[in-house]
Amino acid sequence: MTDVTYRTDVRPDAAVISALYAAAPLIRPVHDLQRIGRMYAASSVVVTAWRGDELVGILRGLTDGAFDGYVCDLAVHPAVQNLGIGRQLLARVREISPQIQWILRASKIAANYYEHLGWQKIENGWFVPREPWV
Ligand SMILES: CC(C)(COP(=O)(O)OP(=O)(O)OC[C@H]1O[C@@H](n2cnc3c(N)ncnc32)[C@H](O)[C@@H]1OP(=O)(O)O)[C@@H](O)C(=O)NCCC(=O)NCCS
Repeated sequence: MTDVTYRTDVRPDAAVISALYAAAPLIRPVHDLQRIGRMYAASSVVVTAWRGDELVGILRGLTDGAFDGYVCDLAVHPAVQNLGIGRQLLARVREISPQIQWILRASKIAANYYEHLGWQKIENGWFVPREPWV
């Protein structure tokens, strides 16, 4: 999409991020703006997609910049889904360094999204659930 601008130097307001998550939809604690703000304050990677001054896509991640990276959140507004914005957000993360191995947890509705973008499925993942869930 040609009229979309990508930025890595801005952290939108928690309310704007929450509205995008709710619309996408991406299940996150969207009613707890303070928590969304903390999630973003501590994240080392934030890639945003803008159409004019409207936030239409966002990726939040963590990385040490040298070896490991984790994509925590990826959301694109439904009005502009399937236009390549998600692909671009993920591509910009991979540009940070080829030395980083990125991992993520796919949501159920995007379980098959990553494979044809070149991501490999992992079979040896483990997690400890958070409480309470959202
Ligand atoms: C999943 C999501 C981020 C994809 O972003 P997007 O900008 O719509 O996707 P893109 O336009 O970059 O899609 C690239 C390709 O993936 C395909 N694709 C899009 N959404 C898909 C999905 N949910 N499952 C499988 N394939 C999908 C597209 O058809 C396109 O295929 P093509 O390259 O053959 O044309 C977006 O749909 C979204 O925000 N969904 C709701 C929130 C969510 O599930 N986030 C992911 C959490 S892990």
